[in-house]
Amino acid sequence: MSVPVKPRSSALAIRQAKGQRKIAMLTAYDFPFASLVDGNGVDIVLVGDSLGMVVLGEADTLSVTLDDMIRHTKAVVGAVQHSLVVADMPFMTYEAGVEAALANAARLAQATGVRAVKLEGGAHILPQVRALVQSGIAVMGHLGLTPQRAAIFGGFKVQGRTAASAKAMLADAKALEEAGCFALVLEAVPSVVAEYITQRIGIPTIGIGAGAGCDGQVLVLHDMLGLTSGHIPKFVKQYANLKDQVAQAVSAYVADVQQGQFPAEEHGFAMPEAERTLLLGNDKKKG
Ligand code: KIV
Repeated sequence: MSVPVKPRSSALAIRQAKGQRKIAMLTAYDFPFASLVDGNGVDIVLVGDSLGMVVLGEADTLSVTLDDMIRHTKAVVGAVQHSLVVADMPFMTYEAGVEAALANAARLAQATGVRAVKLEGGAHILPQVRALVQSGIAVMGHLGLTPQRAAIFGGFKVQGRTAASAKAMLADAKALEEAGCFALVLEAVPSVVAEYITQRIGIPTIGIGAGAGCDGQVLVLHDMLGLTSGHIPKFVKQYANLKDQVAQAVSAYVADVQQGQFPAEEHGFAMPEAERTLLLGNDKKKG
């Protein structure tokens, strides 16, 4: 009897999940982690440009290039069998206009097999969103703290704290929905604002630092696994402490090597006895 295979998710399925169930999204940037995330029930695997910070050791996301995204998205798409894969369009690959956005998204889609992208921003990127959707590429929006514009916000700061800015964010959210986005990330906005927006748009909101009133949640994988160092945002829940486990494993390995405990006999390869004799004569001790 064959085991029922969970079908591959789609942008349409995610859009239809609004009001039916909560959506779980996590980032991944390479084959082994993407396989683990996909194999454990996540709806969406995001190849985020947080890649720059949590994998490449950069201070922000601006140095991430389209080639970086292609390399990592290809690895993730190759690993994922069930979840929807979404890839971030990196800084300055869509802001210049519709033509640039189409050309860069086409490169990303053709080189990796990804069929959904995420763009940061509101009203000023609506033509790009419309053109991508019309060309067959699904688009996820991203409002609130949009890290590609952190310099304008004066750093990684909570957005939408005033009634006026919350209403402006809702207007952007509605415009992104109207332009064809299938879902919307809300990052670092007051919980009440995220819920206010979630209740007023027809596409799912995926929150990060946006409270429980969103239709889904996303975390950066390396943050929730306890793999990142330095400042961890308040909204991160750590589900594991892999940094300590990795440190313990590495120091145990170093000690084993230094003390001659590794490799043991079972980690080595034997030579056929006749060849060994040819090589060493009958002197077994040298073996
Ligand atoms: O780049 C990223 O990982 C993201 C998430 C934080 C939503 O955009």
